[in-house]
Amino acid sequence: SIEKGWKSSHLTQYQGFWLPLKFLSGVMACGERFEACKDDIILNSTPKSGTTWLKALTFTISNRARHDFHNHPLLTTNPHALVPFLELELYVYGQIPDLTNLPSPRLFSSHLPYELLPTSIIESNCRIIYLCRNPKDTFVSLWHFLNNLLPEDEPPVPIEEAFELFHGGISPYGPFWEHLLGYWKASLERPERVLFMKYEDFKEDPTFHCRRLAEFLGCPFSTEEERQGLVEKIERFCSFKSLTSLEVNKSGKTGVLGKANKNFFRRGIVGDWKNHLTVEMSEKLDQLSRQKLEAFGLTFKDVG
Ligand code: A3P
Repeated sequence: SIEKGWKSSHLTQYQGFWLPLKFLSGVMACGERFEACKDDIILNSTPKSGTTWLKALTFTISNRARHDFHNHPLLTTNPHALVPFLELELYVYGQIPDLTNLPSPRLFSSHLPYELLPTSIIESNCRIIYLCRNPKDTFVSLWHFLNNLLPEDEPPVPIEEAFELFHGGISPYGPFWEHLLGYWKASLERPERVLFMKYEDFKEDPTFHCRRLAEFLGCPFSTEEERQGLVEKIERFCSFKSLTSLEVNKSGKTGVLGKANKNFFRRGIVGDWKNHLTVEMSEKLDQLSRQKLEAFGLTFKDVG
């Protein structure tokens, strides 16, 4: 196991991926005990790809008949509490939750690589939505996040040290590129069940991608909903500006993750890497991404 660099995570290698040691029992328990059903929706991502945003959007879109905007759970609840993590929350430390009475469709999330998902998720043929983000912004976001979680008496991890680890494939749920590829290949093989999305695309055209999400979820927006401007309303409701203005996300804490909600919101933009990475670091990540992903047809737009 590795305790250098990402000190707060204590990563350990498990079947080719780097997992936080303290969550391994949760990974095992959910692998053995989670029983997915066909209607479930599983949101997957590498950490810091915009998981919080995807949770807010998916919850709001799939529950739109149940909740209006004035009395909406998102106004008082952090998205992570509405769409819980399987291995990090529901099954954390090996506990077995009772999930039988949850309303359908059940929404869950996971940072696990496709190869390590509980077999029932694949066998049930339930829907999987994967959100990824360009490696440079993901890395910068992760570096801030993990440093923020260090105990006060520990000095922050220098970016150079964190970079070498990330570039070398050592990051929570990494290697980053292998994580993406697992879901990318699955989305090509089973496009009707695995939707592959990118943070940058969402940022560029949020309403288009909200429609795409709704269609994939099997609840496309009706002509009447379109006429009422519902897509735009959902997009604004789940925007960075809107979520960060809520008291629950300024001062609340989220369940078992035990983290202050504000840690899940920092800048919420594309290209912040330019404020932190050297030209050399940026080129190293670009080159590695091309080398690992291009052959499979996976590319990121110029995010500089
Ligand atoms: P930054 O650190 O670059 O700001 P995750 O949810 O997977 O932990 O990812 C967190 C990243 O998503 C952070 O990126 C955070 O600011 C950003 N984010 C959170 N909510 C968002 C929203 N509603 N719209 C856009 N980005 C959001």
